[in-house]
Amino acid sequence: MPRPDPDRFRAAMAMLPTGVTIVTASGAEGPAGATANAVCSLSIEPMLMLACLDRGARTLLAIQAADRFGISILHKGQEPVARSFATKKPVAEKWAGVEWTERDGLPAIDDSLVWLACDLRDVLAAGDHVIVTGEVTALETGEGDPLVFHAGDFHAGEFRRPG
Ligand SMILES: Cc1cc2nc3c(=O)[nH]c(=O)nc-3n(C[C@H](O)[C@H](O)[C@H](O)COP(=O)(O)O)c2cc1C
Repeated sequence: MPRPDPDRFRAAMAMLPTGVTIVTASGAEGPAGATANAVCSLSIEPMLMLACLDRGARTLLAIQAADRFGISILHKGQEPVARSFATKKPVAEKWAGVEWTERDGLPAIDDSLVWLACDLRDVLAAGDHVIVTGEVTALETGEGDPLVFHAGDFHAGEFRRPG
């Protein structure tokens, strides 16, 4: 069996479909936000979320400075938002192009499927990424189908509703 290498690893994990979120924080120079799919729920009691951010993500600095972060889970029509927040363009430009509102003292993408506000709990170094966990302090849910990332591309997740 060939040894794993970073390229094969990346290609293999691209086969795992995920939802797409924007992880946000209120930075000293305004709102910060990054597209992130390495996001999941971690605990119910207490309610904890987990996000993995690249050590070079500007949003990570903003989260650590603010001690809080937000998560907007995107719907299938928000691919342009996901693409914009995945760039290194000036942070203010990312926000200029989208509808957003300050909620619970955090920047939130309007019209998302789910909005979560979290108080930062743990910051754990892990390879070239940093794991942040946060206690959920606010939660709002909307309606619609999710944006899905799979095999390096965005897809409209159209799933049958149970029942
Ligand atoms: C679909 C998708 C998922 C991504 N998931 C993550 C992630 O989970 N963690 C991360 O650090 N970067 C992730 N990125 C890359 C960041 O969005 C990108 O590095 C961004 O420029 C960071 O912005 P910032 O430096 O303003 O924080 C993802 C990009 C895409 C397109």
